[in-house]
Amino acid sequence: MGLQLGDTVPDFDADTTQGPIRFHEFIGDGWALLFSHPKDFTPVCTTELGAFAKRKAEFDKRGVKIIGLSVDPVADHKRWAEDIRETQGTALNFPVIGDADRKIADTYGMIHPKANDTLTVRSVFVIGPDKKVKLTLTYPASTGRNVDEILRVIDSLQLTAKHQVATPVDWKQGGDVIIVPSLSDDEAKKRFPQGWKSLKPYLRVVAQPRG
Ligand code: BEZ
Repeated sequence: MGLQLGDTVPDFDADTTQGPIRFHEFIGDGWALLFSHPKDFTPVCTTELGAFAKRKAEFDKRGVKIIGLSVDPVADHKRWAEDIRETQGTALNFPVIGDADRKIADTYGMIHPKANDTLTVRSVFVIGPDKKVKLTLTYPASTGRNVDEILRVIDSLQLTAKHQVATPVDWKQGGDVIIVPSLSDDEAKKRFPQGWKSLKPYLRVVAQPRG
């Protein structure tokens, strides 16, 4: 069984395209996005790493450090980075872990043997400042991820952490949110003095808190 929501992420030492790291130190007091890709010098992965690099500022703004991983050596990542820059128009600007012995991939459950017994699937882990898993996503090798969706989930997670609200289906930035069921009406009155719309006692809708 791989990592589950709420698990503390295993710490590890790794070599990356930006030098050695210890993962928990890398995360520090902020948020992190760890994602695996199946293999260097492959087409979908090339577009994904280019897209994450292009949009890194949006992760920075949210206090999220991004870091990639595949079971290729760092020397390959560095050669491949040239192709990413050339074809995607953006240089790699975040570290990519070389996990040639698959130790990290195995620990994190990034290899799904029935899909492929040697390469990582497209795993996504969003990790909170408490080093706990807040989100996991798993895509097959043939489907590139959606950066907008990953940012959307991070926004939702951060709203919940800060304001005790949840986000409804298809929520987007600026849309109404829902007061989490664990907050009593008395507690909710303190947090949301402007009030809320109660569609049911358990369905309390409020404007998205700012800040
Ligand atoms: C790709 O990134 O395009 C890819 C990688 C492994 C298998 C299939 C596609």
